[in-house]
Formats: sequence, structure tokens, C-alpha cells
Amino acid sequence: MRKLDDKTLVVASHNAGKIREIRDLIGPLGFEAKSAADLNFVEPEETGTTFEENATIKALASARASGLPALSDDSGLAIDALDGAPGVYTANWAEREDRSRDFAMAMEKVERALNEKGAMTPESRTARFVSVLCLAWPDGHVELFRGEVEGQVVWPPRGTSGFGYDPVFQPKGYDTTFGEMTAEEKHGWKPGDASALSHRARAFKLFAETCLGA
Ligand code: IMP
Repeated sequence: MRKLDDKTLVVASHNAGKIREIRDLIGPLGFEAKSAADLNFVEPEETGTTFEENATIKALASARASGLPALSDDSGLAIDALDGAPGVYTANWAEREDRSRDFAMAMEKVERALNEKGAMTPESRTARFVSVLCLAWPDGHVELFRGEVEGQVVWPPRGTSGFGYDPVFQPKGYDTTFGEMTAEEKHGWKPGDASALSHRARAFKLFAETCLGA
């Protein structure tokens, strides 16, 4: 496993919600993060069929374009009753014809799909959020870290915090959705603290332990 010596890295994302969360997670460790969006990098096509493949495509593109280590996140919601959908296509379910994203529409699409499957009880609506972080160096070396959090899809959406599908995801053992949690509650991660809740914080914890020795 390669350690990260630089204190500047590129967050290989154009998604404002994700960039904010990754900055929240790496900030306390003394990192400065530039984002691919700030640097006007072109967003690469996510042509992979796994979170790992897409995370690697994004991180390598930013590392090569910047000459700096780059950290990407490929994530999504995998719903058991929908055979793991929307999965790697979670962002696509929110896409409108003009390519803008509408998460209210995406959450409704998920709910319609669950209704069509007759999945109305909490037990039949189990799901997990998955986050795969990829740290890539300009020479092509990559390290991958996967975090998952189990929960269920609820309807109607609740809460206005976070981003994306947060208002319909209730993690196991909690009676609030990610949309009703503060960022601290959602991630449940602090440097040196053993616990982590969100998929991203869990993947981040592995990244920090492996590449930073945190
Ligand atoms: P990606 O940018 O291709 O990785 O797409 C990830 C998709 O999953 C986006 O549409 C996000 O809104 C959704 N997603 C990932 N992580 C979260 C989260 O923590 N909360 C809510 N939605 C998420």
C-alpha cells in the first residue's frame, strides 16, 4: 500500500455535495483539496460496470491532468428488491433530458419501482449505500477503498440536509434519514475515532488508516 506524502490533492468530482463531504472528511487531517470542477477538468465518461471501475476512471483522469494525487468517489444506492438497482446508475436515474439532475424525480422513480415490485413493508425495502474511494497518482498507481451502510428506503422523503437520495435512506438502527441528520451525525467520523456511519466515512476511514496512517 502506497502512503500519501503530499498535503494537496485533487478531489476528482464535479458533484458539489460529494466535494463538500470529502472536504469535510479530509480537512481535519490538514489537507488542502482542489476539486476537478474548480480546475475546469472535463468530466470523464463513466463507462465501467462496477463502482471500482468508475472510481478508477475518475481518479486517474484528475491525477494525470493535474500531476497531483487525486481522490475520487463512485457511489450509489443498491436496493435489494430491485436486484441492486440503481447501483452504478444511481446518478443516471436523476438525469433529465438536458442532462441536469433532479433528485426529487429520481426518488420518485425509486418509489415507483418499489411499488411495482409490491415492496411496501420496511423488511422488503432493504438497501445499502456504497462508496468506493480511489486514490490515484499521476504515474498510474491506484488504491481502492469500499465502504457500505445498510438501511432501508422510506417514503415520503424526510429532511433537507445532505444531498442526492439522503431523504429516502434510513440507516439500520436509526429512526431518522440521512436527510434529517447533521453532517456530523451522517458521517459519525472523527480522526482517531473508531466509529463511522456513512458509506463515504467508512471508505474514508480505510483510506485514512491505509494511506495516511491516521
Ligand atoms: P456518481 O457521482 O456517479 O458516483 O453518482 C453517485 C450517485 O449516488 C449520485 O447521484 C448521488 O446523489 C448518490 N449518492 C451517493 N452518495 C450519496 C449520499 O451520501 N447521499 C445521497 N445520495 C448519494
